[in-house]
Amino acid sequence: MTDRILILDFGSQVTQLIARRVRESGVYCEILPFNTDPERIKNFGAKGIILSGGPASVLEIDTPRAPDYVFDSGLPVLGICYGQQTMCAQLGGRVERSDHREFGRAQVEISESCALFDGDVSETWKAGAREQVWMSHGDRVIELPPGFRVVGKSGGAPFAIIADDERRYYGTMFHPEVVHTSSGAELLKAFTHGVVGCGGSWTMAAFRAQAVQAIRDQVGGAKVICGLSGGVDSSVAAVLIHEAIGDQLTCVFVDHGLLRKGEADEVVDLFRDHYNIPLIHKDASEMFIGALEGVSDPEVKRKTIGGLFIDVFDGEASRIKGVEFLAQGTLYPDVIESVSFIGGPSVTIKSHHNVGGLPERMKLKLVEPLRELFKDEVRDLGRELGLPESLVGRHPFPGPGLAIRIPGEITRDKLEILRNADAVYLDEIRKSGLYDEIWQAFAVLLPVRTVGVMGDARTYDHACALRAVTSTDGMTADYYPFPHDFLGRVATRIINEVRGINRVTYDITSKPPGTIEWE
Ligand code: XMP
Repeated sequence: MTDRILILDFGSQVTQLIARRVRESGVYCEILPFNTDPERIKNFGAKGIILSGGPASVLEIDTPRAPDYVFDSGLPVLGICYGQQTMCAQLGGRVERSDHREFGRAQVEISESCALFDGDVSETWKAGAREQVWMSHGDRVIELPPGFRVVGKSGGAPFAIIADDERRYYGTMFHPEVVHTSSGAELLKAFTHGVVGCGGSWTMAAFRAQAVQAIRDQVGGAKVICGLSGGVDSSVAAVLIHEAIGDQLTCVFVDHGLLRKGEADEVVDLFRDHYNIPLIHKDASEMFIGALEGVSDPEVKRKTIGGLFIDVFDGEASRIKGVEFLAQGTLYPDVIESVSFIGGPSVTIKSHHNVGGLPERMKLKLVEPLRELFKDEVRDLGRELGLPESLVGRHPFPGPGLAIRIPGEITRDKLEILRNADAVYLDEIRKSGLYDEIWQAFAVLLPVRTVGVMGDARTYDHACALRAVTSTDGMTADYYPFPHDFLGRVATRIINEVRGINRVTYDITSKPPGTIEWE
């Protein structure tokens, strides 16, 4: 088994970032809630443990504690923020509410050397250096447990970094996992590589080999079907599974007629012609567009598309005899069991259900070869498998497709106009080298007509809006600040080249309060 690190989650908003930083350094890790069954924690087989931050206060009764196994196991431990506080409280130190709460950037001075700074770390983490870090704490340690000493301090946190080299326990009051801690990734690496001794052998090449074997073990001689959407996750899953089991895999591509320009053909060319993967291409666009006739409510659109998709997919799949498995491109963020301290039901803004419900309906077992990976890692795996960059680096695209980019009723004509405008916009973005800086960019066809003048004639055509946002996870987003000349160029091209549009606007709403899609 490759060396692995266990991250115990105490509910911090940024626990996932710890995992990403650790994996970026070539070490496999997983996140489990702090109160996971101790047997499971033990069986995970970690070489070292990281305790995450969290919103609780160790000073209150019944707040989360690290399981006894953590300190009985003899494994190295790094406590971050709340993780440091609970480690101190549990090992005989004292924590107190601080008058001087520190949130945001702070300077830490490395006051002494310790084994954490001994390995392959830059001058940043050597005694005497000062380093910018990101603090977020209300409580602070005031008395260290036996065996610990202070090795780094800041104005508000005299115990900013603590160390017990004997037991290989370390703690930081700040968050090394966030980008605002300039050399934080290096500190995490110093722990995982230097202190714990992980080899850094977790690469996408290694993952590919392991995953291929795991798929073979799981599936045996059975048949598998995989739905393709034209997106990164399902494409990577399909190519990986095909590498493992060859023609036992059949891909099903339900073309709902709501994809971007040229995308349906690309899927067929790539999978059937390039990879030679058995592919059923069901052109169901008539059916979807028919079902959407007269529908203008966004949620009804989603439900109509989601429901029909399942029917069509199921219909096609049931024609292949002897299928036992359904492949899905589920990712790690979908399956992480994290701790949530925020109770109560949340409001549904958009239902986002596309093919949810397929597995129950089809009574098939699931193959989910990407369920341990973050999105960036799926892209790397796609590159490793030789998928074209145009697909691997593609912006996310919603399941209901262009249907939610045409507010109001959808018609075949409107879809055609939107596809053409969107293609011009993306072409200009690519030509300007901006595509990879943007999380998502697309055109929206507005349900209003406006008056214009072209040549000497009056026009009365659609307006379209352009959207481009930056984001890390789609949960929040900022509009992309295109230069004006770029926007002017796109507007001119769209109006000249796309029949049916005579006005172009740029959407400068952030999320919140807006959402990324218009519906
Ligand atoms: P919003 O519009 O909610 O979008 O800010 C956040 C992200 O989710 C995508 N999105 C969807 N994806 N089915 C999907 O698969 C949907 O119904 C759906 N609605 C929005 C959106 O493109 C963005 O990446």
